[in-house]
Amino acid sequence: MSAVLQSATNEAIARAGTLLRDGGLVAFPTETVYGLGADAASPRAVAKIYAAKGRPSFNPLIAHVADIAAAEQEGVFNDAAQALAHAFWPGPLTLVVPLATTASVCDLARAGLDSVALRVPANDVARALIEAAGRPVAAPSANRSGHVSPTAASHVVEDLGDRIDMILDGGPTRVGVESTIVSCLGDTPRLLRPGGASREAIRRVLGFDIASDAESSARPLAPGMLASHYAPRAKVRLNACDAREGEAVLDFGGQLAVFKAAARIDLSPSRDLVEAATNLFGALRMLDASGARAIAVAPIPDNGLGEAINDRLRRAAAER
Ligand code: TXA
Ligand code: MG
Repeated sequence: MSAVLQSATNEAIARAGTLLRDGGLVAFPTETVYGLGADAASPRAVAKIYAAKGRPSFNPLIAHVADIAAAEQEGVFNDAAQALAHAFWPGPLTLVVPLATTASVCDLARAGLDSVALRVPANDVARALIEAAGRPVAAPSANRSGHVSPTAASHVVEDLGDRIDMILDGGPTRVGVESTIVSCLGDTPRLLRPGGASREAIRRVLGFDIASDAESSARPLAPGMLASHYAPRAKVRLNACDAREGEAVLDFGGQLAVFKAAARIDLSPSRDLVEAATNLFGALRMLDASGARAIAVAPIPDNGLGEAINDRLRRAAAER
């Protein structure tokens, strides 16, 4: 076991808060995936995030804050942003808003943009850590660049155990895919990345269907928008209706249960998309570790969290 791995006791969270204030790196659970946290106000600390992850470029990071009041110190909230924040926070929604004059999030954490991505996570350990740090915590997913996002502390140990100061173990994450990202920079909110808050839930708050920027934007703002970001080593074959020689199977609702496979995981035998999202990254990791040359993935419905699941799977399947 790695020495940096600590059970998330009050005492460990207090020490982690001190580590963050001193410019260290702490991985912590959120309700979506584990984050790799650093003091968002410190360019030196933020630079360590990029180094530890081995990111090919400086991508803007999400600043995690304790509540709406803290978020309003960092960003300017128009009516839509306020409605979304009140409806979803704490929870798996990230809002991109114009930078406030009172902001503390540094340039490097924003990749030089004059906007900032903010979210209040719905996880007791995460929120206690942000309180202990006493400042916004910049945190991308706690995996090496190009690997799948971690949904358990053991995944973080595998990817970053020898590169960071502490990993707070708060058990497996509940949602399992990253937060939904909505830009509230213009008059109309835009969906930048599908995730843990569904399009349907957002429509109920806004009163209209949100338009997607993810595929149309000429410049990929996000690593999550680069083709092969969520990439296991094995090739990924989508919408499979069979399992071929040497393939592992990622099933949904028992569609491919009749086929012999090197390894097989069903994301949700009962076809529950929330359960499937929770299991997604862990399952990809396990099937990849089985050594199979390819992973055959059963068709997954595109409604609710299925949109985020299919987005991640398409990236995992992209040529690289
Ligand atoms: O669930 C999550 O969101 C997790 C947990 C740890 O909170 N975090 C996460 O962070 O997925 P990361 O760094 O993997 O993704 C951050 C995304 C990127 O796609 C980035 O481009 C986008 O947020 N982003 C950040 N600031 C932005 C900005 N100012 N404008 C547009 N996109 C921005
Ligand atoms: Mg990530």
